[in-house]
Amino acid sequence: MSASPADRPRVTVNTLRRMKAAGEKIACLTAYDASLAAVEEAAGVDVILVGDSLGMVVQGHDSTVPVTVEDMIYHARAVASRCRRALLMVDMPFMSYTEPGQALRNAARLMQQGGAQMVKLEGDARQVDVVTQLARHGVPVCAHLGLQPQQVHKLGGYRVQGRERHQAEVMLADARALQEAGADVMLLECVPEPLAREITANLDIPVIGIGASRHCDGQILVVHDILGITPGRAPRFAANFLTGRDSIQAAVAAYVAAVKAGDFPTDEHLFTA
Ligand code: KIV
Repeated sequence: MSASPADRPRVTVNTLRRMKAAGEKIACLTAYDASLAAVEEAAGVDVILVGDSLGMVVQGHDSTVPVTVEDMIYHARAVASRCRRALLMVDMPFMSYTEPGQALRNAARLMQQGGAQMVKLEGDARQVDVVTQLARHGVPVCAHLGLQPQQVHKLGGYRVQGRERHQAEVMLADARALQEAGADVMLLECVPEPLAREITANLDIPVIGIGASRHCDGQILVVHDILGITPGRAPRFAANFLTGRDSIQAAVAAYVAAVKAGDFPTDEHLFTA
């Protein structure tokens, strides 16, 4: 009898590196509560992200900016209660990592009080000092490049990043610098497909895409998007996996299967240039 996904050994940073080396796709999905975490565990999701997207899909804000460290701990703890095999990644919210000391204190809270096994932070090479400090103290880090939703008011909207050649070169250099600083995983959001492919090929660490490339080492989506319950218009990079299926469990399992088989994303979910 084969073991259910939740009975397999816990996913660690080493597992993710091995999956990249073996060309096995990493299936990632957000969760914000215990019930969805249990569904995702049973479906074999490899990395569960407690994303600060909860500010929009759970709390009803129009951006992730209002989310606090306390909010993240509350939701992380709920997800951690049902997280058995998947690696639990938790977002550091807006203004919680403005300098290395503050970042270390808040990452410690997310790990000790929230149960995070990896923290995710948005930023470019300016975050090298923060990532270095976290890595030095044993905090696994995912660096989030491309569209950084916490910067929405500075960017003036949610837009594809890295379309100009010089922006693409800077993003590739930033990715290398963050890897060098100790990032364990890179996440690319809303970047042109050729650039996402190039960054993935140039990094040793696993690269997870959202609106990026099918050649990334893994994919992530917001769970509300795959269930078709996102308030307003769903983003182009998302797909509704509940359509034609009769349960949330079946939808999440279909998403995992599509990512593992390389069937998601397709061209309609990507930005060609
Ligand atoms: O907050 C979040 O859910 C995220 C994903 C969109 C990757 O960062």
